[in-house]
Amino acid sequence: MMTVSPSSRQDMMTDQQPRLRIRGLKKSFGDRTILNGIDLDIPAGKSTVIIGGSGNGKSLLLRCILGLIEPDEGIIEIDGENILETSRSRRETLLKRIGMLFQNAALFDSMSVLDNILFGLRAKGKNRKNRAEQEQEALHLLSQVGLGAHVAPLNPAELSGGMQKRVGLARALAGQPDILFFDEPTTGLDPIMSAVIDGLISDCVTWLGSTALTITHDMTSATRIGDHAAMLYGGKIIWQGPASTLMDSGNPIVDQFTHGRREGPIPTSSMTAGSPAGH
Ligand SMILES: Nc1ncnc2c1ncn2[C@@H]1O[C@H](COP(=O)(O)OP(=O)(O)OP(=O)(O)O)[C@@H](O)[C@H]1O
Ligand SMILES: [Mg+2]
Repeated sequence: MMTVSPSSRQDMMTDQQPRLRIRGLKKSFGDRTILNGIDLDIPAGKSTVIIGGSGNGKSLLLRCILGLIEPDEGIIEIDGENILETSRSRRETLLKRIGMLFQNAALFDSMSVLDNILFGLRAKGKNRKNRAEQEQEALHLLSQVGLGAHVAPLNPAELSGGMQKRVGLARALAGQPDILFFDEPTTGLDPIMSAVIDGLISDCVTWLGSTALTITHDMTSATRIGDHAAMLYGGKIIWQGPASTLMDSGNPIVDQFTHGRREGPIPTSSMTAGSPAGH
């Protein structure tokens, strides 16, 4: 008979705890309710993808988790700690664990590419290395996203949109954060670079044990990088399942979305499809 020691029982419990646990998350702007009770578990050490129509609140959800927007209601836990109820300093410590690629890359225009990445490194509290070592790491990150050292001194405005996105990705990966958020990492990239970036995201999960949460409209990417998938629609998570079943979920809303059908339960008459309050 298998016996379970108290310590291994503890490990089993820890294994089952999601890295991020979101319950009843709500956010409205005026009378427009965007998030209307999000319940979502993001498993540790796995890659989760979120899909959903434009304007449904995917980026907003990430901004709420990052503390950039204060939700109206709900629980956001990192390893069981509700970040909405902890002290400011504790919250900052917990949020330092997250590396984020914003949808528009959100680079600092007045800083060089190199300084943008160094900023990412320092923001993670990884400033123990000296300047030369930090620069070395920044250049390595650039090479990982397919950019040469020659872009390091340039300003973001001197790069193409896809290159800016890749610099944003390098900044997100700086300091090897154990939680990674990617908001549309492959939008605007050519198919080969998309595959490279997808590979990088998968490597972070497989080799570094990171927990990744990716928003994407790219179904090839979603099935390539995702272990777990969820769809945001009407202010709620209406479906979750293995990413491998995204194209064959059996859910009419998910099916319409993933196959890009005009006909189906999602109204296409306005850009507000799925938003409960409409706008
Ligand atoms: N700070 C804000 N103030 C007012 N409205 C906001 C704010 N942030 C987001 N919204 C609104 O919330 C809705 C959802 O926006 P969000 O950017 O999360 O959409 P999304 O699902 O990421 O869409 P897309 O796929 O186009 O990126 C939009 O209607 C947007 O106008
Ligand atoms: Mg968005």
